[in-house]
Amino acid sequence: MQQDIQKVIITEGEIHSMVRALAHRIQAEHNGETLHVVAIYDGSILFLADLIRHMSIPLRLYGLRAKSYFGGTQSTGRVEISGFDPAEVRGQPVLLVDDILDTGLTLHAVRRQLEEAGAMSVKTCVFLCKERIREVPVEADYHCRTIPDEFVVGYGLDYRGLYRNLPFVGILKREVYLP
Ligand code: IMP
Ligand code: MG
Repeated sequence: MQQDIQKVIITEGEIHSMVRALAHRIQAEHNGETLHVVAIYDGSILFLADLIRHMSIPLRLYGLRAKSYFGGTQSTGRVEISGFDPAEVRGQPVLLVDDILDTGLTLHAVRRQLEEAGAMSVKTCVFLCKERIREVPVEADYHCRTIPDEFVVGYGLDYRGLYRNLPFVGILKREVYLP
């Protein structure tokens, strides 16, 4: 696995201090509320586990899977969610957690479904933001770091299901995914 990594861009130590600081910031801004954390699996699970263990406010945890269907052009992305009924968080303050914000299609679509189901508020939280133009209008209310537009793996992020267990974030060598 390590031999497929071109460069480590975020070390294990950096991840832990960034995630801890972000958790403290989020909890300070939600004092007195029971936070309803809705996480997008599988990519977010390592970030999610570290993030919530640094929070001491009451929270409920929900998980969903999001499947993207992309049509012939870039803008026809459609996202279907499963494993969770957005009505469960009606009237509640929601923290929507994902691993990385790239085109924005996933976060935008899931946020809209939560809002349509009547969530009181939806704040978005991702571990990483890619520096690129989003295809839909969505940004993260909370994130740990902005990274260049490169394909990265580790700390939950995968390529074809692999590399999620790397404790750092690294750029995947192009020869791994290019023919
Ligand atoms: P978006 O809908 O394009 O914003 O993409 C979000 C999803 O694409 C994330 O939840 C990731 O699963 C996946 N993704 C985007 N960029 C990367 C990457 O660099 N490495 C691994 N997965 C990525
Ligand atoms: Mg993924």
